[in-house]
Amino acid sequence: MRKSLHSTLLNTRAGKALLDTQNLLRAQITNFTFNLGFSGKFYHTGTIEEDEGDDLLLGSVDEFWWFPHMWSHMQPHLFHNESSLVEQMILNKKFALEHGIPTDMGYAVAPHHSGVYPVHVQLYDAWKKVWNIKITSTEEYPHLKPARYRRGFIHKNIMVLPRQTCGLFTHTIFYKEYPGGPKELNKSIQGGELFFTVVLNPISIFMTHLSNYGNDRLGLYTFVNLANFVQSWTHLKLQTLPPVQLALKYFELFPEQKDPLWQNPCDDKRHRDIWSKEKTCDRLPKFLVIGPQKTGTTALYLFLIMHPSIISNSPSPKTFEEVQFFNRNNYHRGIDWYMDFFPAPSNVTTDFLFEKSANYFHSEEAPKRAASLIPKAKIITILIDPSDRAYSWYQHQRSHKDPVALKFTFYQVITAGYHASAELKALQKKCLVPGWYATHIERWLTYFPPYQLLIIDGQQLRNDPAIVMDEVQKFLGVTPHYNYSEALTFDSHKGFWCQLLEEGKTKCLGKSKGRKYPPMDSEGFSVKLLQRSQCGTVKASTQIGTTPSIVAETGATKSEIALGKSF
Ligand code: A3P
Repeated sequence: MRKSLHSTLLNTRAGKALLDTQNLLRAQITNFTFNLGFSGKFYHTGTIEEDEGDDLLLGSVDEFWWFPHMWSHMQPHLFHNESSLVEQMILNKKFALEHGIPTDMGYAVAPHHSGVYPVHVQLYDAWKKVWNIKITSTEEYPHLKPARYRRGFIHKNIMVLPRQTCGLFTHTIFYKEYPGGPKELNKSIQGGELFFTVVLNPISIFMTHLSNYGNDRLGLYTFVNLANFVQSWTHLKLQTLPPVQLALKYFELFPEQKDPLWQNPCDDKRHRDIWSKEKTCDRLPKFLVIGPQKTGTTALYLFLIMHPSIISNSPSPKTFEEVQFFNRNNYHRGIDWYMDFFPAPSNVTTDFLFEKSANYFHSEEAPKRAASLIPKAKIITILIDPSDRAYSWYQHQRSHKDPVALKFTFYQVITAGYHASAELKALQKKCLVPGWYATHIERWLTYFPPYQLLIIDGQQLRNDPAIVMDEVQKFLGVTPHYNYSEALTFDSHKGFWCQLLEEGKTKCLGKSKGRKYPPMDSEGFSVKLLQRSQCGTVKASTQIGTTPSIVAETGATKSEIALGKSF
């Protein structure tokens, strides 16, 4: 029921052939059923014969499964407003209702590979609203090629299944004119690519164009012969499941594929072509400050945004200013959500967008996710003695009136054993886990080359920030050079370095940064000494080649790992 310049609509004979072939295929594939897409706008827009073909299919509506395309077969990514997508979908739904087409299959396919991946979130929302879509499929995730790496994912509760390619396209409608000759098509069916696609994928989804069911009916030819060949040469039992069941089965087989891994849509030409022009790829950070918490990350953040070319994200009210995209469920909101935190840079080359989320450092997921979306980004971490970090966190919790931190001494917290209460163990974990520096850095180095990672000595940042900021500027390659020696001043009242404002005034961090609390007591200190004495060498740290003192600091973390885990 769709017409395009290169295709013809189905006439009655072709419609009958479709029904007959479906019956034929059912002998080889249990429950085989064609799933027909409809774009209602093209109903009855062909020749008399083709319009009769439309009527024949609609007269056999119960013989098939049906899924909505777009009303006018437009690419969804061209609609920026969800409301205009909704409007289009409602037209198609009205068409379906008027013609007795079932509207509850839960499956939809977007025309021209658009909107599903890269995700056009407006499409997902409109699909949910109008059709309650639960499943779709695409050939584009993570990329069209190599086909064997295609995967599925779930976004906004819509299960996206990988769709395979069968070698039939809008233009391949005549047997003799098949690219390379009919032998190429037959080769693919008889032991070639198409055969292997079915053999190697427990679940295969194919979609071919209407034109492949008219003309020389290559769609029918291909699948009948493929089913025959598979049945003759393998012991595979083929069967068809309705979309919802199929998707559930898919993620039962591949549960690890549920979580998506977003990439930059502009890194793949095909993706860029189906990425809304209104969503530039420039609103992504060039570097991340990953933490860990309590090492001076807020001070670094303040100093960074003093630089005229360094621009941070806008604050997130939900996540305490930080975006916290890569480490948490915010990731599942998609990259539109993330990019909305960043302004479009006025100069893509010289402007440096960045964000600081101090929980990224010890997150299992963050390095992999960040490397997938912003593989060229530079990564900055700050380290201090891990026991000082743990103690600072403990004090942080005390000042937030955490009853566990108020009840127990620091020593009791970090030495709590197996039988301790869940709350005490949770606090212990928050004190110690981010301090397993070597483990976390090694994970970041699995995904980012060492030259993209800068480790800052947090003690030096605290005592002599101008030197550190020079190093940071050099590492980032940012211009113009900003003179932090002049821009920062030591505020004796605060006891820390602060931004120097006009008339000698200062802008320091708030009360929650640089708190006043008693030094670690002798018990806590004994743990610190123990850590130092157990200091190991960490492979990751030796690769980094930044400030040598850091190597020693990072080395100390190995003992923290041993110490933390043996409690
Ligand atoms: P304390 O409050 O325990 O002293 P983060 O911002 O990563 O949470 O780190 C907070 C820590 O930054 C503070 O911990 C403080 O020691 C340290 N810091 C380093 N330079 C600072 C500065 N110029 N102003 C305030 N705190 C700073």
